[in-house]
Amino acid sequence: MSYLFPTYLRSKLEWDKALDCRVTMTNGETFLDLTSGIGVANLGHSNPEVKAALEHQLDHVWHESNLFTNSLQESAGKKLAGGKDYVAFFCSTGTEANEAALKLARKATGKTDFITFENGFHGRTYGGMSATAQEKIQKGFKPMVPGFHYVPYNDIEAVKDALTPNTAGILLEVIQGEGGVLPADPEFLKAIAALCKEHDVLLMIDEVQTGMGRTGKMFAFENYGLSPDIFTLAKGLGNGVPVGAMLGKTKLKDAFSPGSHGTTFGGNPLVMSAANKVLDLMTPELFATVQKKGAWLKDQLEKLHVEFPELIKGVRGIGLMLGIECNDPEVLKQLQMLLEKDHVLTLSAGKETLRLLPPLTIDQEELETAVAKLKKAFLELNA
Ligand SMILES: Cc1ncc(COP(=O)(O)O)c(C=O)c1O
Repeated sequence: MSYLFPTYLRSKLEWDKALDCRVTMTNGETFLDLTSGIGVANLGHSNPEVKAALEHQLDHVWHESNLFTNSLQESAGKKLAGGKDYVAFFCSTGTEANEAALKLARKATGKTDFITFENGFHGRTYGGMSATAQEKIQKGFKPMVPGFHYVPYNDIEAVKDALTPNTAGILLEVIQGEGGVLPADPEFLKAIAALCKEHDVLLMIDEVQTGMGRTGKMFAFENYGLSPDIFTLAKGLGNGVPVGAMLGKTKLKDAFSPGSHGTTFGGNPLVMSAANKVLDLMTPELFATVQKKGAWLKDQLEKLHVEFPELIKGVRGIGLMLGIECNDPEVLKQLQMLLEKDHVLTLSAGKETLRLLPPLTIDQEELETAVAKLKKAFLELNA
């Protein structure tokens, strides 16, 4: 019997060693990882530079409370702001980053309500879950936090209808990750940004999955020229150690004061040493390679779409956040099984989408292996 709550449908495989894009299991078999541990190891598993930063920090301070000065948080905050007027709050997970965002938005505006989107995903705590407009996530846990209004994604008229004088913020992912790798329509995002400005509503972007170079830009909202009032990060920020962040425009800074919000572990020196190194490695050169690799991979996936129209409905995504929508959930299930048998790790998203989130460090040979194995699996499914 297991001594764990059954909150995950776990594979029997157990990871023994993970290096860059390869994972060796305890049974000795090695897999090509197209998941990055669900969008975490963007710079490759056991990245040597992040490892060295952690090792250095291990010899200094692992943990100090947030009642003391933390220059590693200051420097990471500065790097994240990137010369723009943002300040940061550090936490440990994506859902906590969103909690901080929701609290800040209510406190700063004095308003209570939020508009969020069907198929979105913002985490599992009560705030994150209440923002997540998915019945399967909320079932059995109601009542949710009041004040959340759910509207269809890419439907600006629905957003206008849901807007009230009590709307504090509009929270969204610019590419819905868990929902099925569903990118927002650029016109929709432009209209949302204009609406927020016009009605003095905060534009809040969840970059937990899309951020940290994943789409070939530091943050996915940069692909659309947006300037959110608040945005959230986690996953790739620590490349494997738990660190999240909520960034807010400087004009919101004074809404929080000592005691408004806090966390014991959030932003401790150990995780911040990793985050700082990750931020140093997030360079324009890296982003250019992500754009190039992503474009190549998407093109190959489009070719598979043309070759297997009876199995594939479409290909979506930006950079190295790509989805292959299968024709039905059973095809997706079989596809993932075949790929796992062929030593390739993948993710699903939504009901029928195969989600690919490889480490951004994946090389051309590994990309070609991934495409060849995908093709082999589709051929087998077609037989
Ligand atoms: C967009 C988005 N927001 C929030 C979360 C929650 O992050 P965490 O699991 O670190 O709490 C996730 C996790 O998948 C996510 O994809």
